[in-house]
Amino acid sequence: MTVQDAAWIDLGPLDAFPARGARTLRTEHGCVAVFRTGADEVFALDDRCPHAGGPLSEGIVHGRSVTCPLHNWVFDLETGAARGADEGRVATHPCRVEGGRVLIDAARLVRR
Ligand code: FES
Repeated sequence: MTVQDAAWIDLGPLDAFPARGARTLRTEHGCVAVFRTGADEVFALDDRCPHAGGPLSEGIVHGRSVTCPLHNWVFDLETGAARGADEGRVATHPCRVEGGRVLIDAARLVRR
C-alpha cells in the first residue's frame, strides 16, 4: 500500500499521547495501541500480546520497544516482532506524525 492509498485519520495532537506510553483506539477488529516513544515517534500495534493476550498499551515503552505487562515479552514497535528468545508477532498499522498531529491509516484497519 502506498501513502496515496491510505485513509489517514487524525487521532489528535501528539501532546495528547503520553511520552513512553500509549493510548488505545477501539476498532471493529479489537483495540489498537498507539505508542509514543521518548523520541516522539509514534507506532500503532494491536493491543494484544500474542503470548497470552496481555494489553501491550499498559506495557513499558523503552526505545523503540514495548515490554508486555504480564510476562515481560518484548516487542519491536516498528515491526511488531518479538525480540530475543520471545516468539510471535503483533500486527502493526501505519501511523505517523504530521504537523504535530497523530495520523493512522484507517483503510488498513477496515480491510483486515
Ligand atoms: S501476555 Fe504478554 S508476555 Fe505473556
